[in-house]
Amino acid sequence: MTDNFKQPAHRPVISATGLYTPPHSISNEELVDSFNRYAALHNEHHAADIASGARQKLEESSVSFIEKASGIKARHVVEKASVLDPATMEPRLAERPDDELSIMAEIGVAAARDALNRAGRAAADVDAVLCAASNMQRPYPAMAIEIQAALGIDGFAFDMNVACSSATFGIQTAADYIRSGNARSVLVVSPEITSGHLNWRDRDSHFIFGDVATAVLVESSKLAPDAHWEITGTRLKTIFSNNIRNNFGFLNRTSPDTAGAPDKLFVQQGRKVFKEVVPIVADLVLEEADRLGVDPAGLRRLWLHQANAGMNRLIAQRVLGHEASEDESPTVLDTYGNTSSAGSIIAFHLHSNDLRHGDRGLICSFGAGYSVGTVFVRKVAAGATS
Ligand code: COA
Repeated sequence: MTDNFKQPAHRPVISATGLYTPPHSISNEELVDSFNRYAALHNEHHAADIASGARQKLEESSVSFIEKASGIKARHVVEKASVLDPATMEPRLAERPDDELSIMAEIGVAAARDALNRAGRAAADVDAVLCAASNMQRPYPAMAIEIQAALGIDGFAFDMNVACSSATFGIQTAADYIRSGNARSVLVVSPEITSGHLNWRDRDSHFIFGDVATAVLVESSKLAPDAHWEITGTRLKTIFSNNIRNNFGFLNRTSPDTAGAPDKLFVQQGRKVFKEVVPIVADLVLEEADRLGVDPAGLRRLWLHQANAGMNRLIAQRVLGHEASEDESPTVLDTYGNTSSAGSIIAFHLHSNDLRHGDRGLICSFGAGYSVGTVFVRKVAAGATS
């Protein structure tokens, strides 16, 4: 029996997950060195204005601040050299011709293939693909349809963007397709090339993001592999906030201040986000656990969104009722940075094999919108009768 109030004919499960990690990693030391060289050049170039007070001097970034404030030590990127070059400070990716697989689809396909292989599933058995991510490479045709075509899937596909919560919102959407009988096997793919929207020249946020792709195969329990994760409940919430915002879009494409304008990249009020989002997430998780009849203190593991180690410490403490160990709430942002919607899925992918039959856990994301997504899961081991 599922914990959810919905008692559908088809029970959704996670059959497998997949991960693609870009080959290049940037350490905090490399990042700070690049930023400080940029700041020195900027200050030299604008020395007269800085002296007259017309312009502010750029302060140096610091490795110790970054690690202490966020827990991030490194991040992966699809392109490293131009991100670290003080003259460019952004990924410079050659545009590909339309008949070549686009880079966002390419890394999504790699993660999707990993998930399909782990589930022992052929792409032809999948009915739908959702590309659930924060940073779409283009508006249309949908990235999801390109991924669907590259994998050879017959069915339907579409993109969805709920910022850092895209993957969990995608999992609930996929689970609803399974519950309603509209699909039996759905891939939720989250390719996040966050390096393109990050303002690498902004000292307050240049350290935050990293690139990655994840995939989650959500299926009906009737065709899932023996070992899988039952989705026992999902709950989503959104509350409008401007505290994490990106104004890039068609309507300001030709505006004179668009080129390089900081608000066309990632902007946040980090302190406010920290303070406001922690209680929203903890309350939603506790409410949903209560509704499902799940003891939150009995959750074996929390796979939380990976934005800030301090936020995760507070959320985990409020959910579990005690300070969480690394085993109870694993961290991946130390080596991946904030990978937007993919973060909680990376944590789940890398830190879930050791759980035993019957163990319960929670995948939980939160971010811009604000948006919060919760996915309660229960491990079903191979050969066990659930
Ligand atoms: N190097 C050195 N010092 C820095 C710095 C850097 N790179 N960036 C900021 N500072 C300084 C600030 O100038 C400030 O100095 P002041 O006290 O003299 O004014 C001080 O460090 C504190 O800055 P603040 O921005 O208040 O830091 P913080 O402790 O809030 O940490 C974040 C910043 C972004 C790491 C943190 O707020 C956070 O992670 N919030 C949640 C973000 C989140 O989840 N976002 C979702 C994204 S999808």
